[in-house]
Amino acid sequence: MSHERWTVTFIVSRRKGEQPPHFQSFQLEVDPDEYVLDGVERIWAFHDRSLVFRHACHHSTCGACGMLVNGVEKLTCITPIRSVTSNGGKVKVEPLRNFPVISDLSVDMSTFYTRMEETCAPQVVPVRGSALPYEKGLFEQADPAYERLADCIECGCCISACPVAVTTPEYQGPAVLAAAQQAFSLTGHAGLLEKMDGADGVWRCHSGFECTAVCPSNVDPAWRIMDLRRKVIGRRIKRLFGLAK
Ligand code: SF4
Ligand code: SF4
Ligand code: FES
Repeated sequence: MSHERWTVTFIVSRRKGEQPPHFQSFQLEVDPDEYVLDGVERIWAFHDRSLVFRHACHHSTCGACGMLVNGVEKLTCITPIRSVTSNGGKVKVEPLRNFPVISDLSVDMSTFYTRMEETCAPQVVPVRGSALPYEKGLFEQADPAYERLADCIECGCCISACPVAVTTPEYQGPAVLAAAQQAFSLTGHAGLLEKMDGADGVWRCHSGFECTAVCPSNVDPAWRIMDLRRKVIGRRIKRLFGLAK
């Protein structure tokens, strides 16, 4: 932390039940090296206890604190205030796009979680790019149910940034397709390719890489979707020649 003090205006999206959404401004004294989530928590603690938002770990692991910050998807617990505004400036905080808003900054991600479970189960494979500690002999193997969370922390930022998800709620979306790519790479389970070859799978993607641009983790969902497409095409060609079911 620095010893600087900035005065910053947080402009926060408020939405309760059927009331029309609106913005509410809060002026805060902050250390610019604090994180956006610190500012949101301070608003809750000292200005308005009715503010609803999601968070848990404060260290980019649980995936709960994704929000739009000045219009861009951010994991707010690792986004320094200094990186999104300047002294005397504004920080606009809104809920993620493409999810139903429960209240204020909190969104309902249950459809997304269900899709992830359906994609990963029953194999339950992790979306990750590096070895897990138990594979290096450092720890006992964890409960496989938790491995799904490795690398992809299921924050929803990619879905919020996806232009296809805006118009097509049925679209599986970048995180689920990335999970399918990882699952197929590890298991070779042909049913995954079958499922993602459908109208709401890999062919809906516009290949703009908006999801990869906002992903705060090590997933690169757009690259995985392109790779999954190659695998789907390979399966189609094999079927054409009677080499696959
Ligand atoms: S690359 Fe595909 S999945 Fe990613 S944001 Fe663009 S359309 Fe959505
Ligand atoms: S792919 Fe990246 S942005 Fe999308 S849910 Fe996983 S960690 Fe979040
Ligand atoms: S609070 Fe857990 S990822 Fe931000």
